[in-house]
Amino acid sequence: MNTIMRDLTAGPTPLLENKRILLIVAGGIAAVKAPDLIRRLRERGAQVRCILTKGGANFVTPLTLASLSGEKCYQDLFSLTDESEMGHIRLSREADILLVAPATADIMAKMAHGMADDLATTALLATDKPVMIAPSMNVMMWTHPATQANLQTLQTRDVRIVGPGAGDLACGEVGDGRMAEVPEIIAALARFFAKAPNRGPLSSLKALVTSGPTHEPIDPVRYIGNRSSGKQGHAIAAALAELGADVTLVSGPVTEADPDGVKVVRVETAKQMMKACKDALPAQIVVCAAAVADWAADTREAKIKKDGGAAPTLKLSENPDILATLAQKGPLRPDLVIGFAAETENLVENAKAKRARKNCDWLVANDVSQMSGTFGGDSNTVHLVTADGVESWPTLKKRAVAERLAERIAAAFNHQSQHQS
Ligand code: PMT
Repeated sequence: MNTIMRDLTAGPTPLLENKRILLIVAGGIAAVKAPDLIRRLRERGAQVRCILTKGGANFVTPLTLASLSGEKCYQDLFSLTDESEMGHIRLSREADILLVAPATADIMAKMAHGMADDLATTALLATDKPVMIAPSMNVMMWTHPATQANLQTLQTRDVRIVGPGAGDLACGEVGDGRMAEVPEIIAALARFFAKAPNRGPLSSLKALVTSGPTHEPIDPVRYIGNRSSGKQGHAIAAALAELGADVTLVSGPVTEADPDGVKVVRVETAKQMMKACKDALPAQIVVCAAAVADWAADTREAKIKKDGGAAPTLKLSENPDILATLAQKGPLRPDLVIGFAAETENLVENAKAKRARKNCDWLVANDVSQMSGTFGGDSNTVHLVTADGVESWPTLKKRAVAERLAERIAAAFNHQSQHQS
């Protein structure tokens, strides 16, 4: 699917193309991320207009926001020029969504209590459009009952929340309160627009995702397994479903909850996974995130006894390669076949070789050495390997990796359909 390959070097994400985003930049250190956020949104075809609060102006200049957004940066509620050019009511209504990033404890409190003492809070109170906030503050401020109560109030009013994440905070403390990374905010916006009725860009497509480990029985009580938790694969299934795809998730034994709106087929062994995947065809999209055991043991019918003699020898035989089988040329080959590569050394080089060997279109390479914490952890650092090259993504929550990958898939299919029409 060569048209997909060409689309990889970013370009507009159809979900955000021509979307009008009113970005409210409040007074927190994370305001320094606003320029990058604007740049990334515009790269995806969104139109961005900014309101900068008095506090926000301590961290970023109106000139920077205006230059990057290509629009005037609005600051004053009682500015005669602003009001004659664009009344604050119009400003708040001429947007598809209002995004507050960073959202400080102060602006959240004002929003929760309906205060309107500057342009930002007035626009937030006057709007008839959806609102999303990306909170950012010190961990004690975030966990304070007052902030949590305000958060609850905002959630009950359908304000969308993205983040915050945990990590080192600008104040020197560590914990929750770090503003979501720019890709996470973009993914949240894309998800929001995808959920609008009939807007899912993958709504006419079938996707098959594998996830979790396989268990290869040795005897009735023992098995060969691995450390996969299913978090990454399940998140991918959820993200594809959110973009409207009809998703079948074939999962090995995991404790992860079934994602909403996804058909889940549970299996144990690699051979069962192979069969379930074949049964789920035809599909246009395949993502193999499962950690499939490469070998199966000759299973004994009865429990192997520890009888003081020599340790038993396991006879292993090679399992079918599900990804390579699905990627084989043929009438049922999905349009886009994506594999994962779990490597502990020479990550990118090994992944490139694996992509070619398994004939898949894209390969997501991740480091699974013990130090990385990828198996079972909540975050992942991946490299997307395609025919066009390698793209390294920052460390993201597995959910954000999944959303970004789903966005890419949607962009690729949009690109393909444009070429066909
Ligand atoms: O489940 P988590 O705890 O969230 O961890 C996520 C993960 C590390 C399992 C995931 O991100 C990941 O890397 N999955 C692929 C693991 C793997 O088996 O990698 P591999 O390099 O051995 O295999 C390469 C590809 O071939 C993979 O797409 C795999 O699904 C597929 N494969 C491998 C062997 C086989 N018999 N059949 C296959 O389909």
